[in-house]
Amino acid sequence: MHDQPITSQTLEDTATEALSALKAIADSKALESWYSAYLGRKGHITQMLRRVGELPKEERPAFGRRANEIKGELEAAYETQAQALKAAEMEKALSEGAIDVTLPGRPVARGRLHPSTQILRRIYQIWADMGFQIYRSRDVETDGYNFQLLNFPPHHPARDMQDTFYTTDEDVLLRTHTSPGQIHAMREYYPEPIRVILPGMCYRHEQITARSEIQFYQVEGLAVGYNIRFTDLKGTLTDFAQRMFGAGRQTRFRASYFPFTEPSAEMDVECILCNGDGCRVCKYTGWLEILGCGMVHPIVLQNGGYDPTLYSGYAFGMGPERITMLKHGIEDIRYFWGNDLRFLEQF
Ligand code: DAH
Repeated sequence: MHDQPITSQTLEDTATEALSALKAIADSKALESWYSAYLGRKGHITQMLRRVGELPKEERPAFGRRANEIKGELEAAYETQAQALKAAEMEKALSEGAIDVTLPGRPVARGRLHPSTQILRRIYQIWADMGFQIYRSRDVETDGYNFQLLNFPPHHPARDMQDTFYTTDEDVLLRTHTSPGQIHAMREYYPEPIRVILPGMCYRHEQITARSEIQFYQVEGLAVGYNIRFTDLKGTLTDFAQRMFGAGRQTRFRASYFPFTEPSAEMDVECILCNGDGCRVCKYTGWLEILGCGMVHPIVLQNGGYDPTLYSGYAFGMGPERITMLKHGIEDIRYFWGNDLRFLEQF
């Protein structure tokens, strides 16, 4: 087209051709190419207007006027066609995608918090209300933190209770309990008094059975200060039990042994299912064992940097999954990490 001389005839022909091409267009993509072919920067009409200088001087004004007129007409025709196409496309989409609003809806499968997360949050809330902060400690530990600094010397028989996952480095292991966090917390807080809970996942290299898993949560607690006594431990833990299991819930403390506490105890609560009458879950004793606890051993205080002649403290450790099991009469701990929705959906 560029090579042809421009005349008012080629202008009129181009206009006629453009209009009939426009009429035949049935989708907006073709419409856009039509627009650039005729009216775009390199379109035929635009080009002709640019080349008006090639005409004899006297023809230029009339040609220019007519070309602009045609340009206006084509723009208008384009607009009309664009509107019509848009309406047709909308009509088509509506009729094809028609929704029958009388059909029953599809239920949305909603997720929920894992039972372990639920019980952890409940425990955090109770301890937070009693002024304890959460202290996060690492899952991968050294033998020193997991055992030695907690007064488990090498070959101490209490290590046998905690079958350990070692890494290829014999000194580096997955923590078997949250107690090593006590040392980290003390070393960080010294010389301030401490009131923290240390929640986290623990790992044990054990046969997985209904009663033992290789991973489970623990929530450790630690209080260190100037005048903390065994009565503080008993009072605080009983308060916890009553907030957790209901006002008036009885507790009892039985002497026990842990290398990192002296004296050590286990706390039982009156069975939450039979209220102490005796049932299958409490094995007809009326009591459920909830946690281990004790006064922080002087050696452990010292390892944490606290002078045991000035400071004292108590510690405790509980298993949240165990509490959930007792609460709901769940008989198999493997449900917690089995990811079976039939189990998880019940919480
Ligand atoms: N670390 C112990 C365990 O895994 C639990 C425990 C007992 C923690 C007594 C304590 C405590 O802080 O005082 O079996």
